[in-house]
Amino acid sequence: MKAAYINSTGPAENIAYGDLPAPALGPSQCLVKVATVAVNPIDTYIRGGLVPMQLPMPYIIGCDLAGTVVEAGSKAARFKPGDRVWGSNQGLLGRQGTFAEFAAVDEEWLYPTPKGVADEQAAAIALVGITAHLGLVREAKLKSGETLFVNGGSGGVGAMVVQIAKAIGARVVTTAGSEEKVGRTRKLGADLAINYKTEDVSAAIKSFAANGVNVWWETLREPDFDRDISHLAPRGRMILMAGRDARPAFPVGPFYVKGCALHGFAMFNATAEQQRAAAEDINRWLAEGRVKANIDRVLPLSQAAAAHRLQEENTIGKAGTLAGKIVLKP
Ligand SMILES: NC(=O)c1ccc[n+]([C@@H]2O[C@H](COP(=O)([O-])OP(=O)(O)OC[C@H]3O[C@@H](n4cnc5c(N)ncnc54)[C@H](OP(=O)(O)O)[C@@H]3O)[C@@H](O)[C@H]2O)c1
Repeated sequence: MKAAYINSTGPAENIAYGDLPAPALGPSQCLVKVATVAVNPIDTYIRGGLVPMQLPMPYIIGCDLAGTVVEAGSKAARFKPGDRVWGSNQGLLGRQGTFAEFAAVDEEWLYPTPKGVADEQAAAIALVGITAHLGLVREAKLKSGETLFVNGGSGGVGAMVVQIAKAIGARVVTTAGSEEKVGRTRKLGADLAINYKTEDVSAAIKSFAANGVNVWWETLREPDFDRDISHLAPRGRMILMAGRDARPAFPVGPFYVKGCALHGFAMFNATAEQQRAAAEDINRWLAEGRVKANIDRVLPLSQAAAAHRLQEENTIGKAGTLAGKIVLKP
């Protein structure tokens, strides 16, 4: 089968596109004919060796996939050949990745793709949708009527945080880096979208949420805690999920006097049951048309190295040339 893979960690140029043997099917796995995969920043960190993980070599890159089951293992009971499925959390913790024509995936990491939902949608929503759900529901316990702020509603995670927070019934404030992206985040449902390059973000948040925001979701790798905590309402919750190397100053007094709470998490540590609970809600919202993927572009799988470069230039280099997910097709 055709696959995008590496033989050793390193720059995007290390990604080869070529033939590998199709994967052997384990008893609890389903063999999926992959229709679509999506890029996430963590794919680039793993490929680059920045997030050290045990990798089976050659290592097929990628976490997310959507496609159709072609064979079910002897102990796999959830799916049968012909079922459309999506999933995430592959290519992690010793598992092979998804950027190939076929992937053997433990059925506990697969979810049915709702009728009428395209494979592009399901793949592009996978890791970022589950991340947004875990943060908003399991961690922050966001409630209807509360106010949420998320930095970067134009990004992979941010676009899902905006939509899931709206589906829960929150008032949503977000930022984006151009007028076009501000417009996109409004279309995703943001009640207030602020251009962080041209507007006074703090003034705009204050005029929208005079009593502060109940949940602050930080997607930036270098948070400005002085500013962020000044915007939290009493008993506010803050989500941290980016910036492994960040060591910013932290205003202890203003934080504890307001009774605030910090929640940090990495989605790949969530159990299969926790991720499935998130996927079930996401499937319902996808079927109802209440959430949709924010796709920037669709590329052939042979362009995997270019896709990694583009993701890195944006997530790390802040190039601003990406407005959503990069999706690839074998
Ligand atoms: N812990 C976890 O489980 C988990 C899961 C997924 C992702 N992550 C991490 O979360 C981070 C975001 O991931 P992603 O997939 O959403 O990345 P992404 O698609 O590259 O999005 C980055 C976002 O940051 C915005 N941004 C950049 N500079 C900004 C600034 N100064 N002010 C406000 N917004 C700014 C960008 O906005 P513009 O493009 O509009 O400029 C863009 O929307 C990454 O570091 C990733 O590794 C962690």
